[in-house]
Amino acid sequence: MSAQAPDAARRITARQIRARKGGEPIVCLTAYTAPMAAMLDEVCDVLLVGDSLGMVVHGLPNTVGVTMEMMILHGQAVMRASRRALVVVDMPFGSYEGAPSTAYDNAVRILKETGAQAVKVESGAEIAATIAYLTRRGVPVMGHVGLRPQAVLTEGAFKAKGRGEGDFACVIAEAQAAAKAGAFCVVVEGVAEALAAKITQAIAVPTIGIGASAGCDGQILVTEDMLGLFDWTPKFVRRYADLRGDIARAVRAYADDVRAGAFPAAAETYFSAVKG
Ligand code: KIV
Repeated sequence: MSAQAPDAARRITARQIRARKGGEPIVCLTAYTAPMAAMLDEVCDVLLVGDSLGMVVHGLPNTVGVTMEMMILHGQAVMRASRRALVVVDMPFGSYEGAPSTAYDNAVRILKETGAQAVKVESGAEIAATIAYLTRRGVPVMGHVGLRPQAVLTEGAFKAKGRGEGDFACVIAEAQAAAKAGAFCVVVEGVAEALAAKITQAIAVPTIGIGASAGCDGQILVTEDMLGLFDWTPKFVRRYADLRGDIARAVRAYADDVRAGAFPAAAETYFSAVKG
């Protein structure tokens, strides 16, 4: 190979994230749009184009209805606006649970059409063989264990794990299977602190927690949750801003201006901006 594209040279790689096991905590957030990705890129190690976008952006009741086309469109937007972070795109429900070769075709389509560096799959034990199939063929994979939102139809709800020790062995085995199959890191969602700590000890790749305590190698949140965009957020989310309140205040101020006729003459503003 004669030269490396400048963009590829600058980005954090899946290998670098894997090497951070037990080191500096890995900072991850979700991103679905170009403006958000541009703001998060400098400070985050990983931007996840999560299929949570179905609920956060598209108003779906869960992630089951998310399609490949939605993931690719949002993945492209995030890639266009980011330069530094590793971008991971979620594989949507139905795109990877069948034959490993179908999962491979869909994963490659996501990587080629978005330019992202990795995909994520929700990894129950039955997905380990698919992770191995993908990673052996050059597709970096992030695993996801514990509360698996795509399992909502079979579980009947979003179910946290580890309330009793009965869950422990199963979730630890899922994380070990994903790591052994070649996942470069594993998201651990909605599990009790003791279970998160045990998973983190049990696997050789970083764990990325969400509602899973500080006992992980990194953390991820849905960005809109931690920015306070919704009137409800999961209890484990710390709100670092009140976007919902800020937006409501801004919209009210705008409506007041419109109703009071308190607007500058648009054309004049434009002309002076062009001249100036
Ligand atoms: O879809 C998503 O945003 C996720 C994260 C919450 C880990 O899977």
